[in-house]
Amino acid sequence: MIEPEIDIHLDPFWIDQALRSDVAEGLASQPKELPPKWFYDDRGSNLFDQITRLPDYYPTRREREILEREVDVIAERSGADTVVELGSGTSEKTRIVLDALAATGRLWRYVPFDNSEATLRAAAADLAAAYEGLAVHGVVGDFEHHMGHIPHGGCRLIMLLGGTIGNFPPARRKDFLASVADTMAPGDTFLLGFDLVKDHDRLIAAYDDPAGVTAAFNRNVLSVINHRLDADFDLEQFEHEVSFDVEEEWIEMWLLSRRPQRVTIGGLGLAVDFAQGERMRTEISAKFRSENIGPELASVGLAMEQLWTDAQGDYALVLSRMVG
Ligand code: AVJ
Repeated sequence: MIEPEIDIHLDPFWIDQALRSDVAEGLASQPKELPPKWFYDDRGSNLFDQITRLPDYYPTRREREILEREVDVIAERSGADTVVELGSGTSEKTRIVLDALAATGRLWRYVPFDNSEATLRAAAADLAAAYEGLAVHGVVGDFEHHMGHIPHGGCRLIMLLGGTIGNFPPARRKDFLASVADTMAPGDTFLLGFDLVKDHDRLIAAYDDPAGVTAAFNRNVLSVINHRLDADFDLEQFEHEVSFDVEEEWIEMWLLSRRPQRVTIGGLGLAVDFAQGERMRTEISAKFRSENIGPELASVGLAMEQLWTDAQGDYALVLSRMVG
């Protein structure tokens, strides 16, 4: 087994500063808002893992269906010997891709990129042990800031799976896609997973399960702030709410204040008032139309090579490459 190599670009001080400015800015906005990246402490990551197995949360299963069906075509078309996975998390679906590249005899390197050092180390160790001869070079970073630190070399298949792209509002989505295009060398390809627009009731149901797992995940951002910034959010006093914005075509998750209340964020020296019924937005999850994906990629210089959907047309995987 080759020992994984791990580069760390996120030190605790950097993360702390980012959380502080996100919370201070978000609570001063109208409506109040907290960015979804702070859901994922250990408990939040565990709750998200449970979400991916909920009967109504279809994206994970649909993406897996497409990957399993098309992975040999993806391996062939990409010509890759290296997989770069942005937001790799537990690297669960990665094995499907690594197996296909290994079968072509071309698999050389795996580059997981994630903002959680503990999660990344565990995944890197597992995969290095599972694939004899695989060079694992992990990068701990934030993909809105550290994309430039992804190692070069080889023919790379860069992946962003799970529909994570939906968390970016359009302007930041374009910046993100441009930064991906920017790191790509000729011959590299980009595999991106999108959730598609569909019946609104099904969309809402995917984010509002009867068991309350998504509600617990949503409220967990408050407990993250309580622990890390010495705040006193009472989780019971915030209700999980989901809506679909038909103009923007994105799901919104909110926390609704059950009564008038004042919350103190000790670490920021801040007191914040919530009116009864006031809604604070905690996530957007954009849904896409297949016909808009090609033009969106083209706007950052990426040429769509192929788009696949699952049998029901719920979800899409798109392979693109640099133009020219
Ligand atoms: C991880 C951003 C793809 O938007 O579907 C799931 C997060 N939030 N349930 C999504 C999420 C509530 C998920 N992404």
